[in-house]
Amino acid sequence: HSAEAQRTDLMTITRFVLNEQPKHPESRGDFTILLNHIVLGCKFVCSAVNKAGLAKLIGLAGETNVQGEEQKKLDVLSNDVFIKALVSSGRTCILVSEEDEEATFVDKSLRGRYIVVFDPLDGSSNIDCGVSIGTIFGIYTVKEGQEPTIEDVLQPGKDMLAAGYCMYGSSCTLVLSTGSGVNGFTLDPSLGEFILTHPDIKIPKKGKIYSVNEGNAKNWDGPTAKYVEKCKFPKDGSSPKSLRYIGSMVADVHRTLLYGGIFLYPADKKSPNGKLRVLYEVFPMSFLMEQAGGQAFTGKQRALDLVPKKLHERSPIFLGSYDDVEEIKALYAAEG
Ligand code: AHG
Ligand code: MN
Ligand code: MN
Ligand code: MN
Repeated sequence: HSAEAQRTDLMTITRFVLNEQPKHPESRGDFTILLNHIVLGCKFVCSAVNKAGLAKLIGLAGETNVQGEEQKKLDVLSNDVFIKALVSSGRTCILVSEEDEEATFVDKSLRGRYIVVFDPLDGSSNIDCGVSIGTIFGIYTVKEGQEPTIEDVLQPGKDMLAAGYCMYGSSCTLVLSTGSGVNGFTLDPSLGEFILTHPDIKIPKKGKIYSVNEGNAKNWDGPTAKYVEKCKFPKDGSSPKSLRYIGSMVADVHRTLLYGGIFLYPADKKSPNGKLRVLYEVFPMSFLMEQAGGQAFTGKQRALDLVPKKLHERSPIFLGSYDDVEEIKALYAAEG
């Protein structure tokens, strides 16, 4: 490919997904239409985030969500934008959002066969100080024919059709997997298009970074405490790992995916199931990690094998480079 050809052969996310089409012969372009509406939502949130300070979009919305968290104005705005974009796509039947206690069942007239679970704005605590935040989403298909019910949503992560996130940082980057590898796209604001910039992302087999909120160390269980100790004081003469923790899962996972290493949100005495929500944080990020050659573990099992019982269920999560997750699995197995 000459540099010229490279520059003019703009692979947009829409073209890319259309090229994927042959792998999903059953889809009559519906998935492409759904994805286009998710991309539209991301573009809107990206522009809102970029001018949040100017457009009086920072600060609290004066409500609290089902998580008991004070909703930020951008939490609520992003949620409204994604719900409207997904419903208007005419390709969805059930929507689950971090910001809504109940699932949204799409009206018959606009109903399609996809279920979308999403975290419209991840890392909200970082909005007001300008640190990277993101949107996380996962896509299931509903079983044909039946009237959609909440049981259709409570599927293991391994049954997801696709998953991805959009990170609103120094650039707006959308990372997506439709089940055959992971690809990254960067928004070119002058074109308003996401362009393929990170083809076929593979996470390094082993990393030199661990990412955890050390402030919870007092409450960790044995294996987690032992693992973090090993990162800081390795016994095998290797050098200690670096600690990088941003506090936005999207940003911490994006760095882990590109640089390697491990991201942990463990259980602790205060929160026995950890903090991160299974459907729209743990599953999509675990799906991406496995697709990129990494692993995702809950402390008890492969994260994608979990079968959620409730919409906003939480789970401990250890995800990242294959070898790093192996180490923590061995420590949990030894504890037995
Ligand atoms: P959200 O802003 O969508 O509620 O998610 C916040 C999550 C996740 O982004 C991050 O990994 C984690 O909260 C950080 O939690 P701590 O501040 O407890 O470390
Ligand atoms: Mn939240
Ligand atoms: Mn989140
Ligand atoms: Mn959120």
